[in-house]
Amino acid sequence: MSRASSIAYPNIALVKYWGKRDEALILPAAGSLSLTVDDLATTTAVEVTDRPGEDIFILNGRAASASATERTSAFLDVIRQQVGDDRAAVVDSTNAGPTGAGMASSASGFAALASAAASAYGLSLDQPALSRLARRGSGSACRSVIGGLAVWHAGDELESFAEPVPGPDLRLVPVIVSGRPKAVSSRRAMRLSRDTSPFYPAWVSSTEETLRQMIAACAAGDIERIGQLTESHALRMHAVIASSTPPVRYLSPASLTVLDAVQELRADGLAAWATADAGPNVCVLTTPGDAGQVAQAMAGLAVSDPAEGAPGPLRILGPGPGAHLIPDPVELTRGAS
Ligand code: DP6
Repeated sequence: MSRASSIAYPNIALVKYWGKRDEALILPAAGSLSLTVDDLATTTAVEVTDRPGEDIFILNGRAASASATERTSAFLDVIRQQVGDDRAAVVDSTNAGPTGAGMASSASGFAALASAAASAYGLSLDQPALSRLARRGSGSACRSVIGGLAVWHAGDELESFAEPVPGPDLRLVPVIVSGRPKAVSSRRAMRLSRDTSPFYPAWVSSTEETLRQMIAACAAGDIERIGQLTESHALRMHAVIASSTPPVRYLSPASLTVLDAVQELRADGLAAWATADAGPNVCVLTTPGDAGQVAQAMAGLAVSDPAEGAPGPLRILGPGPGAHLIPDPVELTRGAS
């Protein structure tokens, strides 16, 4: 029996990934760029059993749904095929942030799973190979293998991985307006956009252009430009999503209130730009210097955390590390006994 545990953090895309050119291999239609953050981690332990058969997936302390377990097993199959091992695994995963609510839980989830499962099955991978592997679970997970700013290249199977990209020190303030899981999965909505939106081809070509501009803005440390590109690209993504048939709308009235408030902060001279993934929650991109004021200004717009009662001060997220192995708690207990 072999076990390994890993931790990975969510990433928030400043240039969004929205659309695949290969669904089986999860190859994106265009490149993207994100910031891996330092909070809301997923911690995952993988134990390889001594028998083939059904995998067991425990998520946040309870048996996961059949569809989540199936997706985890399909991912483990990619590793099992590579190493020629048919033994089942027990996967125990805990998210510190909301699951499936558009706060990138699948990115941290599959990055942590890729790292722990590769090790538990005895597969030794360098960072690009681990990023490629995580991509097979969820596209955006390939970026959580990398710490801080990461660019994920479009391209064929071998070229499509994430790597670090130089840039300034940034902060993100998540404004959680709903903790509920999204009604339409990003995977499904992404397919709908590709198959039905008349704007999809323009979205793909303009994303490549935005990515070039973003990489240049990051290299120049031009925060103003990074912010403008981030907000405009997120709004373009939501426009493409809304232009699908049937239409999908992730932003709620509460999200729009946050977008307006962010615009006001800018008018007041603060560095603040909004972005939102496939859900109603908004992340405000800002600088280390302005993050405290931004978090304070946004506090009244966030919902209270049911676990914590009244809304506390909002978290300020900075750049976090890429997915990595951590000492396995069970091995530690065994060692101590
Ligand atoms: C809106 O990576 O969750 O967060 O590859 O189908 O698993 P799959 O999709 P996923 O999509 C993330 C989309 C996004 C934008 C982004 O993170 O770039």
